[in-house]
Amino acid sequence: MKRSTPIPLLLLCLLAGSACRPGKKTNFMQQPESALVLESTTLGVSTIIQDLDVPWEICWGPDDRIWFTEQSGAISAVKPETGERKIMLVIPEVYRHRSLGLLGMALHPTAPYVFVDYTHLKEDSTIVSKLVRYTRTADTLKDPLLLLEYPGNTGHNGSRVIISPDGRVMLATGDAARYPNASDTASLNGKILRMNTDGSIPADNPYPGNYMWSRGHRNIQGLAYTSSGNFFASEHGDATDDELNLIHKTGYYAWPHIEGYADRAKEKTYADTFAFVPPAFAWTPTIAPAGIDHYMSGNIPEWKNTILMGTLKNASLRVIRLNEAQDSVLGENVYLTGVFGRIRDLCVSPGGDVYIATSNRDWNPGKGFPKAHDDRIIRLFPIPSAGNLPVLPKSVNLNTAALAKGALLYANYCEACHKPDGRGIKGSFPALDRSKLVTGNAGQLLQMILKGSKKNTGEQMPGFAFMPDEDIAAIAGYIRRAWRNQADSITVSDVRIERKNAGF
Ligand code: HEC
Repeated sequence: MKRSTPIPLLLLCLLAGSACRPGKKTNFMQQPESALVLESTTLGVSTIIQDLDVPWEICWGPDDRIWFTEQSGAISAVKPETGERKIMLVIPEVYRHRSLGLLGMALHPTAPYVFVDYTHLKEDSTIVSKLVRYTRTADTLKDPLLLLEYPGNTGHNGSRVIISPDGRVMLATGDAARYPNASDTASLNGKILRMNTDGSIPADNPYPGNYMWSRGHRNIQGLAYTSSGNFFASEHGDATDDELNLIHKTGYYAWPHIEGYADRAKEKTYADTFAFVPPAFAWTPTIAPAGIDHYMSGNIPEWKNTILMGTLKNASLRVIRLNEAQDSVLGENVYLTGVFGRIRDLCVSPGGDVYIATSNRDWNPGKGFPKAHDDRIIRLFPIPSAGNLPVLPKSVNLNTAALAKGALLYANYCEACHKPDGRGIKGSFPALDRSKLVTGNAGQLLQMILKGSKKNTGEQMPGFAFMPDEDIAAIAGYIRRAWRNQADSITVSDVRIERKNAGF
């Protein structure tokens, strides 16, 4: 993807007689509306275009415009500097309903092709998804070529599209809300499919004559390649376990048999028989992950080598740190929670600015949304200082490793009684979700876990003083953040103090 050379920009500045500095991007018309302060970089936040209707996919085009689909069927390109928008095409046969409509899109980096995926209602009332290739001209899209038609449903239709580093079209299909589809090698649903740009099956696909690249997916909502070519997908879980997956050729991701890690008894048994790829990370409570991109620019140094991910339910921007090999997750920071509402997709400019797209006019907006000029595409870019701008809330730094450990310990020691959803069993085992004892004073909570207690009904809460301090801290920290709980974590020294107080 090309960057504009500095010379024309400099000339433009001189001709315009403006005070812009060569090499600095001062040709943007929008002023920052607020600031997001990172450890050492301050980001300006500005709206580049508004009054949109669910921009489902946004991508940086080879023409240095941001291309976006809107759920009701329009494909547009906007100049980020001016907000000037050109509607390239409207597809009348798009069927929009709840989560259905015009969804994923990918622009080929070297050929003039644009690939879009949308749902369509047939005359006999069956729902299908169509992957269609268009050819891009300066002001329209022409020559539609249907590459693939596959079963759809009223939900779980996927469907992100991305061009792989080797120039193939990768398409993530949902399980179409029919779970057995996901593992079925004869079904196109619940898969990542790989094809040539004309829709044919590549000769080097792993299963001869089959589009299938990986299987066992529920409903993938984000696809991205890292700078080293690793392939990641974000995926919606059911009641628990949203996932970020590292996608391997022929990988089996085991939906609906294993959700998240194989941490429940039945899942462990299944994993003993069927080789499956565990997630790079899983979220319980769920956050409804959406579009992802790998960020590798030095423009925002704090975010270098991270997966940027928008979320719907949690309405946030997740910045997920990767290890150097770009194959595992080190931790995550959470920004903008609730500030702009649901974040459906994002893209990165060649210069390293980040663009996010809101999704508040979809079927399930959060409380207080949509706001007057939703939906919007918003730019995040470094500025010298926040000055008089309103400063957005700081990130929440989640200690991913401790939370993951806490979740595992909870599954092993607590969920038999308090249940995976933390709601317990009425009359026997109290709910930990929204329990004041769980989210309140850390000392009281730790006393309960260490000593246990006996209800007058006779049900017993066993004491867990036999566990190491680290494990108790991880479990207590986990239940304070799980489900709908939002309390802060617990340190190992908190546990040490309470152990002394309890006289152990
Ligand atoms: C064998 C069943 C059982 C197991 C296993 C169990 N608990 Fe409990 N838990 C109970 C019962 C029964 C109570 C109610 C005790 C009472 O009211 O005196 C309770 C109460 C609690 C409470 C207080 C909740 C409130 O709002 O009053 C917390 C916190 C708690 N348990 C945490 C845990 C954690 C953490 C684990 C795992 C390390 C765990 N429990 C494992 C049965 C269990």
